[in-house]
Amino acid sequence: ATERTLSIIKPDAVAKNAIGAILQRFENAGLRIVAAKMMHLSPAQAGGFYAVHKERPFYGELCAFMSSGPVLISVLEGDNAIARNRELMGATDPRKAEAGTIRADFAESIDANAVHGSDAAETAAWEISYFFSQLEIAGRE
Ligand code: CMP
Repeated sequence: ATERTLSIIKPDAVAKNAIGAILQRFENAGLRIVAAKMMHLSPAQAGGFYAVHKERPFYGELCAFMSSGPVLISVLEGDNAIARNRELMGATDPRKAEAGTIRADFAESIDANAVHGSDAAETAAWEISYFFSQLEIAGRE
């Protein structure tokens, strides 16, 4: 089924000038970019996005890292978009990510791991609505 998922190209990958290379991978895999914006998140904005992890020991560092520089936030649309994006990203910890995945190729550590992608349909809907209004999303047929 056609799905939408939220993608964030994180500050480490933006600093490496890898936005284009990463978006190219999404497009090459048949995902369409239906919304995109660049933001430099405040710690509070990052914290709200990752509220589900509030009790985890890495929450503070995660919020600090995600607000350390600009990010490119996008909505990807396509057949099976959530799982397809997760395959393209590879494992959260780049040391465990399969060769040829975005994290294997661009990530430095579990914190600076290049990209975020929604993990399920419900989280995708919530994450998209956290950053984008309906009017900012341009579905294409
Ligand atoms: P992301 O997919 O953006 O979701 C939460 C992020 O927390 C995750 O990627 C990692 O960058 C970061 N993180 C740091 N430590 C851990 C950990 N032990 N387990 C999961 N995520 C972690």
